[in-house]
Amino acid sequence: MKSILVTGAGGFIGSHLVEQLIENGFKVKALIEYNSFNHHGWLEKSKYKNDCEIIFGDIRDKYFCTNLTKNVEKIFNLAALISIPYSYVSPNSYFQTNAIGVLNLCEASLENNVDELIQMSTSEVYGSAQYSPIDENHPTVTQSPYSASKLSAEAIANSFNLSFGLNIKIARVFNTFGPRQSTRAIIPVIISQLLSKSDKIKIGSLDPTRDLNYVSDSCSALIALANAKINKEKIFNIGSNKSISIKNLAEKIMELTNIKKEIITDKKRIRPINSEVNNLQCDNNLFKSLTNFTPQVSLSDGLLKTINWFSSKIKYDNFDTNYNI
Ligand SMILES: NC(=O)c1ccc[n+]([C@@H]2O[C@H](COP(=O)([O-])OP(=O)(O)OC[C@H]3O[C@@H](n4cnc5c(N)ncnc54)[C@H](O)[C@@H]3O)[C@@H](O)[C@H]2O)c1
Repeated sequence: MKSILVTGAGGFIGSHLVEQLIENGFKVKALIEYNSFNHHGWLEKSKYKNDCEIIFGDIRDKYFCTNLTKNVEKIFNLAALISIPYSYVSPNSYFQTNAIGVLNLCEASLENNVDELIQMSTSEVYGSAQYSPIDENHPTVTQSPYSASKLSAEAIANSFNLSFGLNIKIARVFNTFGPRQSTRAIIPVIISQLLSKSDKIKIGSLDPTRDLNYVSDSCSALIALANAKINKEKIFNIGSNKSISIKNLAEKIMELTNIKKEIITDKKRIRPINSEVNNLQCDNNLFKSLTNFTPQVSLSDGLLKTINWFSSKIKYDNFDTNYNI
């Protein structure tokens, strides 16, 4: 039996995806970015750590990717640099991993007859909504080096489909949240500051709206996408079809935690004006019509699960709530 390869498996979404795939009976190969601490990222303490084949390495290395993809049926490529603020500081590194890394995986997939590459993309490739909700025909506008690198990855995968017949699916996933997410992302930023001793919470722009998806729903959607037999379409929006402003989100989290603090707009956290993506709300009708998938976890339920997870972590791990890109 060939394996399902998940790259970025030590990360937030990747670790949940590995666990869900194992629960669904798949044989999983989990790529964790090489580090000298022998740390397995979020799989370190997973009860499924011994139920998958764990490989350490780096998708920027073509030789490594060739070996990695032997005896692999499908690839979920989640490995990426993801922080938008850090993409202003180190854009080249984003293209090395998010674009060249995908080129390496495409070439290796052809060499090793991998059946399908599922490339994890992002709603950030659309830029600010020109109409809403956003369907797959919406224009793409790369407002940050991060989104440019992710759109480049899509273009590389698509070219390998058209030129060499590599089977690909591109999942444009809208914002995802839940346990294990970095405290640099908006929901952990709000929760961790609410649970900390500070009397105020500092965030960036309050007006942008986002379509927020609980991590188990995003992972189920990726698995549904991999299982679906689709002949024509290649790009799929995955999201809830609802959106909320950052201000209303912060207020909702305050209500759910029963902790009220003053919200301060912190200039350091605001994106350059033309780089800020103002509104993102998914139109998931295409994906729904092809897979029957509908999200199962409401925003409130997902936030409660996330708050509970961070509450236990903050007690034991003492998260740093200072701003750090
Ligand atoms: N979090 C979201 O809201 C969201 C939304 C849409 C799409 N995505 C995409 O989902 C994927 C996973 O994001 P996440 O939020 O779990 O972030 P994450 O940072 O937790 O996971 C990314 C993982 O990729 C690994 N990685 C980075 N460079 C690598 C390299 N050169 N070789 C091998 N591994 C490498 C990192 O170690 C990390 O574990 C990314 O592709 C991201 O673009 C995330």
